[in-house]
Amino acid sequence: MGKILVTGGAGYIGAHTVKRLVQSGHEVVVLDNLSTGHRDFARFADFVLGDVRDPVILDSLFASRAIDAVIHFAAASQVGESVRDPLFYYQNNVSGALALLGAMRKHMVNTLVFSSSCAVYGPPFDGLLTEDHPIAPLSPYAATKNMIERILEDMARASGLKYVALRYFNAAGADTDAEVGERHLPETHLIPLVLQTALGQRERLEIFGDDYPTPDGTAIRDYVHVLDLADAHISALNYLQKGGAPRAFNLGNGQGLSVLQIINAAREVTGQPIPVHMAPRRAGDSTRLVGDATLARQTLGWAPNHADIHDILATAWAWHQKEAACLPQSPRPAAL
Ligand code: UFG
Repeated sequence: MGKILVTGGAGYIGAHTVKRLVQSGHEVVVLDNLSTGHRDFARFADFVLGDVRDPVILDSLFASRAIDAVIHFAAASQVGESVRDPLFYYQNNVSGALALLGAMRKHMVNTLVFSSSCAVYGPPFDGLLTEDHPIAPLSPYAATKNMIERILEDMARASGLKYVALRYFNAAGADTDAEVGERHLPETHLIPLVLQTALGQRERLEIFGDDYPTPDGTAIRDYVHVLDLADAHISALNYLQKGGAPRAFNLGNGQGLSVLQIINAAREVTGQPIPVHMAPRRAGDSTRLVGDATLARQTLGWAPNHADIHDILATAWAWHQKEAACLPQSPRPAAL
């Protein structure tokens, strides 16, 4: 396979995927506007600064580099923010995908792996979510992912687009070499906030809701290691290259962990107390999202290597300690 264009390759999941692609011998071009990504995360590949919604940049990028396939991450990805500013989410995520698909069609690039989300699934469900579970997005963010999947389905039918949509459950953890990791500004995700609290960068962690219909009252998610997600993109490209049928796949470990369980596991991994405070539910949050990834395991040959939450937290902890060591030190009080 020739070059792979990775949009959003300077973001959290994108950067880990780029590093894995380069390690496995692929040539990669990253397109990122650095609105939420980081320049240092994109140091493993050819980097183009630009917005995926910009047809001029896309045109020159496809014209100047022999791109064979695209992995599309570039998107806004916060559930809560999308509830507050739905127009931004629809403009950014849906328009970005449309511009990219237009450029791909113009330059006859027909292979796409799309970064989707388990957030597309419908109402609370006690079991494991399979790909045929009813789709009913609760937030504008999730609706954008669903809309784009729908566009891809239609294009596959009409023009033979070869695509895989990967519905991630909750991405977590970091590169085992701690060269890249999770860095959102501002941070809104549970595990980084828990670890920043363990580092003393935050006084306490707010638990958003303890009145959910779950055993301990806090919301349940299926945390999946970012390196396992990265590997799935390479498996998906191989699958498409071998003529695999276009479709969506779940990527999760099938293990539901509550917010309180994550905090307790983080206390074990870090040895720190991690003070908490109960807060109201966050708008747009689901009660429980736990995935069945049998299809990805069987069809893509996906085999997660870091399914244990302690392993996930340990890699994240190493990354956050490294990040903290790079922060400017607060001035010491003058000696008396
Ligand atoms: N949470 C807290 N306190 C915090 C932060 C989060 O209690 O300070 C809770 C949330 O309410 C939620 C859980 O921790 O119940 C996980 O929250 P995250 O913000 O870490 O992740 P989300 O499940 O909201 O969303 C993430 C990604 C989405 C993706 C989704 C799939 O941000 O892009 O996972 O589940 F769609």
